Order: sequence, then structure tokens, then C-alpha cells
Amino acid sequence: MALVSVKEMLEKALKGKYAVGQFNINNLEWTKAVLATAEELKSPVILGVSEGAGKYMTGFKTVVDMVKAMIVSMNITVPVALHLDHGTYEGCYKCIEAGFSSIMFDGSHFAIEENIAKTKELVSVCNKKGLSIEAEVGSIGGEEDGVVGLGECADPDECKKIADLGVTILAAGIGNIHGKYPENWQGLRFDVLEKIKAKTGDMPLVLHGGTGIPTDMIKKAISLGVAKINVNTECQLAFQEATRKYIEEGKDLVGKGFDPRKLLAPGVEAIKATVKEKMEIFGSIGKA
Ligand code: 13P
Repeated sequence: MALVSVKEMLEKALKGKYAVGQFNINNLEWTKAVLATAEELKSPVILGVSEGAGKYMTGFKTVVDMVKAMIVSMNITVPVALHLDHGTYEGCYKCIEAGFSSIMFDGSHFAIEENIAKTKELVSVCNKKGLSIEAEVGSIGGEEDGVVGLGECADPDECKKIADLGVTILAAGIGNIHGKYPENWQGLRFDVLEKIKAKTGDMPLVLHGGTGIPTDMIKKAISLGVAKINVNTECQLAFQEATRKYIEEGKDLVGKGFDPRKLLAPGVEAIKATVKEKMEIFGSIGKA
């Protein structure tokens, strides 16, 4: 199946009261693990690529070619979207050109007028090419230079202004943050989510910072209009833990245990297990 935009899969998710996971990819192993799990569980899936990860993989074109080739070689039949995560204005154009099926323009750090102008321009480009576009209002906090922000809440009126520009999906800060949640985190602001939903109607909403949000909060967020949930750190932690265990147990020192295909295998299995667990919680299994 060719790469698809997120539009149809998220409209279905919103109606069916489940969410589709965006799992960020970093390399071949990550991509293979996420695709294999989605196919096994017959779940639609969104592969997220940050600009840093794109650069790491030698460029967006490499990512597009790798993902498209894997869809063929792995006989992937479930809907797969390839989505730029937190794109800059320039990064969005690069991904559009490289063949991504979906982009996120993160204009949340611009003044609302500039965010609107740039989002509007990108919406028109994406519409012409049949791509989906995610916009962000109210920056999602997280760890930056060792300082953990607690996560801003988006202004529901600003959300409406951006939603009305014709974006496909909207990421709105509701106290969520990227990375691990600090001890003193107050939880998601469902009061804010309800207000945003009331203003934005049928627009599928996106919950960033999916790592470490308790299951009951995830389910409540889905019931209030969240149809896409982003997960990155949790797969990284699972990979790290399994790889550490393999080396600490000295398995790399036995026979051909140093072979990267063996060395990385436990990490890959750990990513698969994490993706499966998330898809179960999000309710996307069997929805492809
Ligand atoms: P986590 O790393 O907290 O899972 O967040 C992922 C994310 O929101 C990517 O945009």
C-alpha cells in the first residue's frame, strides 16, 4: 500500500473513539519494528520523523525511500503515514519535496499572526498535493537544556483560529510535555481540552508527549476528541533497557553475540512490545 495522509485514518478514529499512534523512528530497526507490529495487529500507523532524526538518517529522501521500500518488502497492507514531527517552515518544504505524506508545522513559538500566515500558506500547498498537515498552538513543554517546563495550555480561541485555516489535525498544549513527566506534574488539563474541543468541532486533536501518561488519562483524552497520540521517548527507553541488559549479561561476548543483528535484536523486540502495548491502550488494533 502506498503512503497515505492521516486524514482518513484520523476521521475514522475520531468517529470510532480510538486513537492512532504516531511512533517516532530513528533508524532501520525502529522503522521495521513499528511497521511489523502495525501489520501484525492490523492497526493503522503514523511514522513520525523529527528534523534531527531525518538528518541522522542522512536526509528526508533516504527516509522516504526506506519506508516505501519496506512497505513493499514486508508486505505491509495497513495504512501508513509518514509524518514530519515538529517541522520548521523550511523543514516542511523539504519533506513535501522528499515525498512525505503528512507534515506538522510547529509555529507555536511564533506570534499567533505569524503562525497563522505560515500555516495558511502550508495548508494551501498541502491541499494541492493531497498531504495532511498538523498545526500546533501553545507550545508543548519538555526538557530543554536540562530544564523541564510544565507544559503550556493552549488558548481555545487561538486553536479555533488555526483550525479554521483548514489544517487536518491540531496539536494543542493541555499540560502535556515531551519526555519523562516530572514528579510534580499536575496531569492533563481536561477542562482546557473540553474548551478546545467545543471551539474546534470535528477537528481530530493530537496529544503529544504520550510517554508516561497514565492509561486512564489517555482514555479520557480519547473520549474528549484526541485521535492521534505521539510516542517517542518510551520506545527509546525500552530499546535502551533491553540493549543494556544484553550487554550487562555479557551476551555480546558469547559466540557471534557481537553481530549487530544479534546485539540490536532485544532492543527491537522491546520497541515492538511497547508499540503493541500503546496500540492496545489507544484502541487502534484491528482498525486498519
Ligand atoms: P514523548 O517523547 O514524550 O513520547 O513525546 C513524543 C512526541 O510528542 C513527539 O512529537
